[in-house]
Amino acid sequence: MKRIVIAIDGYSGTGKSSTAKEVAAKLGYKYIDSGAMYRAVTYYFLQEQISSDETVKIKSKLEEIELDFSLDENGDSVICLGGVKVENEIRTPEISERVSAFAAVPAIRRKLVGLQNSFGLRKGIVMDGRDIGTVVFPEAELKVFMTADLKVRAKRRLIELENKRLKTELSGVEINLIERDKKDTTRVDSPLTKAEDAVEIDTTDLTFQEQVDKIVTIAKELIRE
Ligand code: CDP
Repeated sequence: MKRIVIAIDGYSGTGKSSTAKEVAAKLGYKYIDSGAMYRAVTYYFLQEQISSDETVKIKSKLEEIELDFSLDENGDSVICLGGVKVENEIRTPEISERVSAFAAVPAIRRKLVGLQNSFGLRKGIVMDGRDIGTVVFPEAELKVFMTADLKVRAKRRLIELENKRLKTELSGVEINLIERDKKDTTRVDSPLTKAEDAVEIDTTDLTFQEQVDKIVTIAKELIRE
């Protein structure tokens, strides 16, 4: 059967990652969370006490960074930094606050886009992020652009963080989503934008299952062609 690449982009907290993961599971595809890669790199530089404007230091350290994905005890794909799982460490409010500044650094994007391209070589992949349909896989057979009302996004993200026992408040979550959207859409290198040929899905009034089904239905039509 034909195997395709599915690129899912969109604003912060629109449910891209959970949707992409479920779409991949339904199709028997590999799921790659590109945002986790930017978060892990941010975590690494914060540990090294290097800030996003120290580009010379960033460039000299980038080679050392080893990123990979492995499976956790539930069989979920989780990011590893230097062979160590850092899934919880990269979801903290501190990383959410700093990640968009690191993600705007061209040298970091070059390294991560190179890795993302290599993951897609064998097709049969669902990747979510901000520039997947525009920069990482401009030839992807299916591109999806997800949006949702800000208040709905903030509430969903708060529940997600509470489930992970990461203490935070709704107002802080909402401010973080607004700030990241602003930084991600206005940066010079690979800003978040909808690819011309992307299918837009507004998830404000959709259930999780409905948004997954929409994408799976389109994907199956393309796979059958
Ligand atoms: O919180 P959410 O799941 O929506 O975001 P994420 O996918 O974990 O991505 C975190 C941050 O990484 C984004 O706000 C972007 O600054 C950056 N990112 C990016 O620049 N390009 C990507 N392909 C993925 C993420």
